[in-house]
Parts: sequence; structure tokens; C-alpha cells
Amino acid sequence: MSASAPRTDRRRLEPGRLVLASHNKGKLREFSELLAPFGLEVVSAGELNLAEPEETGTTFEANAELKARAAVEATGLPALSDDSGFCVAALDGAPGVYSARWAGPEKDFAMAMRTIEEKLQAAGATDPADRRASFVAVLCLAWPDGHVELIRGEVEGTAVWPPRGQGGFGYDPMFRPDGCETTFGEMSSEEKHGGNDGNPPLSHRARAIEALARECLEAR
Ligand code: IMP
Repeated sequence: MSASAPRTDRRRLEPGRLVLASHNKGKLREFSELLAPFGLEVVSAGELNLAEPEETGTTFEANAELKARAAVEATGLPALSDDSGFCVAALDGAPGVYSARWAGPEKDFAMAMRTIEEKLQAAGATDPADRRASFVAVLCLAWPDGHVELIRGEVEGTAVWPPRGQGGFGYDPMFRPDGCETTFGEMSSEEKHGGNDGNPPLSHRARAIEALARECLEAR
């Protein structure tokens, strides 16, 4: 992703309680740590036993927004959600918003990666230049008065085959970000997210979170 200029027209979130519109404990830990320096006390939709809305949107933005709005409506508190996925250019951006669904109820990502490779082979996409891919993460911050801010983070690279590495999750082993020799699956979590030692963030989620912090939160 080419670094876009920081936006200065965003609404900023005041310190206080914030609902994380997710039932995923890993996400709760990651977001709680990140948001602590901003005076935000994070409670998750899972802890509050909120129903999970169906992700009926056809874009990351639509799904992030419907999750955040559902959490605001159920609690009256500001809410933060995220929606993410893996997009392969030669497959018109698939699996995209359907990334989790391509792995089926068994969450079989080895199968989902094979499906992508079969489709790339069928399309004749063997040259790395024809195998452009990206990870996308969209965050939605929603307020009780109906205002929302949508923040997108992306990382571009190449869909490689065979998958490499045991780290990460989902499609990490078949994605090599531009400028790197290794796949996300071969990286430590610190390497995947980047942002250490003065380096810019690398992963789609880290890039979106950095923009959220810079544009919508007030450090205390
Ligand atoms: P969700 O944002 O929790 O709906 O997740 C969407 C799906 O996108 C996940 O189940 C993964 O398949 C895929 N995905 C999102 N982010 C990543 C990542 O960082 N690595 C690998 N797969 C990812």
C-alpha cells in the first residue's frame, strides 16, 4: 500500500468505555493492549453476550459497519469492529469478504489455499506478476449518535505456491508481502505486524490500527 496522507477531518473518540464488536478472544487482547494508552476500557461483544449479526455485506466496509452499528445499538456505547480478508487480483478480488467462508465450517485453510491455487492455475496465472494479492482490514468506529469512521489498511504482495511457514493463521503461508523474502506464515508475529524499531507497520491490521490511533484517538 502506498502510504496515504493522514486524514485530519476524522471525529476523535473521547476516553471511556468502548465495545469491541467481536467474539474473538485474540482480537480482544490485541485491541485492549493497543487501546489502553488512549484511556479506553475495552469490553467485548462476547463478554456482553451480544448476538453476532450476519455478515451480509459485499464489501469489507459494509460488514465492518453493520457489526459496529449492531454493538452500538445493543449497548449505547461507542463500538469498534473490524472486517478483513485475502484478495487475489486475478480472481477479481476473491476470496475477499468470503475469506473465512472459503475455509468451510471446519476452518480448513489448507483447502481454501488449494482452491485459490487451482483457480490461479486454471486462469494460467503462473508468473508472479499475474499473482498479485493483498490483505485488507477495515476498522469501523461507530458512535451512539450514528456517526461512523471507516479506516482501511492494506498490504500488497504475491500469492505463492506451495504455502510456506507454520506461523500466523488463515492465508498467511501463501502470501509474500512486497519487499520481503518470506511469507507471513514464515514470520514471527512481530515481523508480520512490523512497526518496531521505528519501522512502519507492515500487516494490513497493523496499518489500519496505526491510522485509527493517529486519526481518531487522543493519546493521554
Ligand atoms: P474476519 O475479519 O474475522 O471476518 O476474518 C476474515 C478472514 O480473512 C479470516 O478468517 C482469514 O481467513 C482471513 N484473514 C484476515 N486477516 C488475515 C491475516 O492476517 N492472515 C491470514 N488470513 C487472514
